[in-house]
Amino acid sequence: MRIPTRTRRSNLDNEKTVTDLSDRNIILGVTGGIAAYKSAELVRLLKKAGATVQVVMTPDATRFIGPLTLGTLSEREVLMEIFPENESGSWTKHVSLGLWADLFVVAPATAQTVGKLAHGLCDSMLTAVALAARCPILVCPAMDHDMFVHPATQSNLETLEEYGYVVMPPDRGELASGLVGQGRLPEPEAIVERIARELQQRIEACEDLVGMKVLVTAGPTRESIDPVRFLTNHSSGKMGFALAIAARLRGAHVVLVSGPSDLPSPTGVERIDVTTANEMYQAVIRHRDADVVIMAAAVADYTTESTASSKIKKEGDGDLVLTLHRTRDILAELGRSKEPEQTLVGFALETDNEIDNARRKIAEKNLDLIALNNPKDKGAAFRHDTNRVRLIDRDGAVEDLGTKSKDDIANLILDRVVSIRLVGEVSE
Ligand code: CTP
Repeated sequence: MRIPTRTRRSNLDNEKTVTDLSDRNIILGVTGGIAAYKSAELVRLLKKAGATVQVVMTPDATRFIGPLTLGTLSEREVLMEIFPENESGSWTKHVSLGLWADLFVVAPATAQTVGKLAHGLCDSMLTAVALAARCPILVCPAMDHDMFVHPATQSNLETLEEYGYVVMPPDRGELASGLVGQGRLPEPEAIVERIARELQQRIEACEDLVGMKVLVTAGPTRESIDPVRFLTNHSSGKMGFALAIAARLRGAHVVLVSGPSDLPSPTGVERIDVTTANEMYQAVIRHRDADVVIMAAAVADYTTESTASSKIKKEGDGDLVLTLHRTRDILAELGRSKEPEQTLVGFALETDNEIDNARRKIAEKNLDLIALNNPKDKGAAFRHDTNRVRLIDRDGAVEDLGTKSKDDIANLILDRVVSIRLVGEVSE
């Protein structure tokens, strides 16, 4: 179900659309950097958008901005200590806050706090809330340029993304040190917009795959002939990556096994890069316990008998004869050991007798659903941002999804997966 964007007209400025965060509980984490002065404006804008704002500060942040200012603007007492002053009070506030919030934004996030979050350290109220929180966490790093580009900081930020945190990159410009570079906290308006977008995306995604492990394969495989040549196909990985992103947004733990592809790693997805069909087989088998497996990869059906260790040179005018051996059919292997509660989805790439071939594949490989695409169709299959897909179920029924963006097709496939699983649960 798509919910319309939550925006409303400002009473003050009829021309401007103001982000609506009414009914939203936002925790603002402020850490000890010069950009902490911007948090006053951030609280003001969040309040103006209708959010309830709870400020949590690290002790160092108070050197840059007073809790009195942020407490007054947010109309709530600022939290700093993990243990209450009155020792008979409750010390589990970090847990209840993490459950109360719709979103936790850390702005500015210093290199120190980014490092602590990446390593699960919780020596303050702010880091403890982050560890306990079930809501999305938006991290806005702000620091000196060299600290930001340092491999340690970059690696910590990558770790955060792998854990599902959303990182809003800092702006470029003049920094407190007098140097010019990347490290400035984005303007409060941009942060509020980003918060609204993150929340909106989550509403749209419905989070109906929470608690599920979804394994997606994507891209082509490559079978080497010699050190400079290989056999492959035209798959770009776009369809599989779109499925992985959609499943992640719907709350699943996603493992993406990808053949060679230039596509960037989707946030919060566990990506495993492989090259050959055999490597893909090994990676998939390691994750065969997934609740849902979607094989979108174009796996090579044949591999070379052996890979020459040196470049194969021309010999006279004669032909070169390559002997190719069958690879293992990964999906058929999963189908043979399929558990009743597991959902297996295949793709069928067909140019002729499409429906018959797809129906045969669903039966032979013991699948729940097959997504049929034909590279001869306009805007379908390889390299396009769109795809034309027909879904065929175990009864052979065909549903034409039409030609749509791969993101939309991914969500329609996941809708079917969810309904197949619901029907399965009811009939058990
Ligand atoms: N597949 C697989 N392992 C292989 C070959 C294919 O797991 N070695 C999977 C694909 O990822 C896809 C499905 O099987 O989900 C169908 O792939 P497709 O290439 O359409 O068909 P094949 O089964 O390979 O048969 P053919 O090439 O004869 O059409």
